[in-house]
Amino acid sequence: MSLEVQAPVRVPVSRYTSPGWALLEEQRLWPAVWQLACSLDHVSAPGDFFEHRVGRLSVVIVRGDDGELRAFQNVCRHRGNPLCEGSGGGLTELRCGFHRWTWDLRGALREVPNRKSFGTLPNEDYPLFPAAVEAWGPLVFVSLDPEAGPLADYLEGVPDDIAWAGLEDFRCTTFVEVPVVANWKTAVDGFSETYHLQGLHREMLPVVDDVDAPQRLWDRHGKSMQRYGVPSPRLGAGVTDQQIWEAFIVVMGTRIGIPTDAEPGPAPSVPAGSTMAAVLAERVRAFQAEQGVDLARFSDDEIMNIQQYNLFPNMTLLVYADLVQVLRARPGATPDNALLDGFFFERHAPGDERPRAKPLDVTLAPTDADFGMVLNQDFALLQRAQRGLHQPGMTHLTLSAEECRIINFHRNLEHTVGVTEA
Ligand code: FES
Ligand SMILES: [Fe+2]
Repeated sequence: MSLEVQAPVRVPVSRYTSPGWALLEEQRLWPAVWQLACSLDHVSAPGDFFEHRVGRLSVVIVRGDDGELRAFQNVCRHRGNPLCEGSGGGLTELRCGFHRWTWDLRGALREVPNRKSFGTLPNEDYPLFPAAVEAWGPLVFVSLDPEAGPLADYLEGVPDDIAWAGLEDFRCTTFVEVPVVANWKTAVDGFSETYHLQGLHREMLPVVDDVDAPQRLWDRHGKSMQRYGVPSPRLGAGVTDQQIWEAFIVVMGTRIGIPTDAEPGPAPSVPAGSTMAAVLAERVRAFQAEQGVDLARFSDDEIMNIQQYNLFPNMTLLVYADLVQVLRARPGATPDNALLDGFFFERHAPGDERPRAKPLDVTLAPTDADFGMVLNQDFALLQRAQRGLHQPGMTHLTLSAEECRIINFHRNLEHTVGVTEA
């Protein structure tokens, strides 16, 4: 599906600023959708657990001693205390810290102090409230609706579309959470269009074609592909290999082992008949080979072209053959607060038998978070944009066909929370 518009599409700004709308989302959106909770590396061993919070809602994912992943609403059925916080391992039971009611890792109640004082209290009447949990590659999704259909149905054509990349070979090294002063959707929107590259990220233009960047819409989800290693047509003819090289280093030099703040030096020479993109792809292969990862089976295009998936409601998956990153935004305490999350993955050899290691989980203030020039620009921008949304004259966003992934997001949001189209 693609999208043509005859006139700008207008979306009410109140969806980004009003507590009433945020409450609708809490009641009707977040309990109803499959959503990314954590990486498989967070919960790979029996006894591992991870608390997934989205606004005031909380789900705990646990790996049982039978090796099964299970998820439960993170709440004690006595008087509502959350059972878990954060993440970790070595769990053998879920014990409430308030009055010590205790459940096994399958969610069955097994211990109630002073049980007789409750009269008759059968364990089977008080299991934990189950949630649905399923993994796709290294990503663990939950739905608070235990009757949610299969995750594979929810993901539509996305897993098939990216099957060539072998996501299952990636492991999460780091999970970073950044509290930002913006609505979660302001963040999601910023990762749902390429239109802003020529505005916010002009430094990227020598190294990316932001104009011929095909988009695709499924029913819920969207995708954009952008070619790197070639200049934007916006710059016209005459962009030199040196300019492409310098932009590549500052945007993603780490993919070839060069820090993004390093002096780029002279561009590597491009053999006759080849291109700068092909030379860069070969440098990526060489750098991965140094880490023991063989990228020989991937084409130059699979290495150089970003495949960017926007999964409804709040996740962006970025894939190159050597690199997977996930950006996610979750609602915070008010419509003007969100948690912006990054999951960073590295490729392992297919069939790597070594046990998965726990990722490093960190929470950073926006002023301390350094995700490189491009994401840093995005983070600063979205907080400014959120402020602008409160201007009294600013009643609607005005969207174009280039922003079709945002339009499609709102179509799904309206459908899920049950309001008619704006
Ligand atoms: S609230 Fe959990 S045991 Fe009382
Ligand atoms: Fe951006």
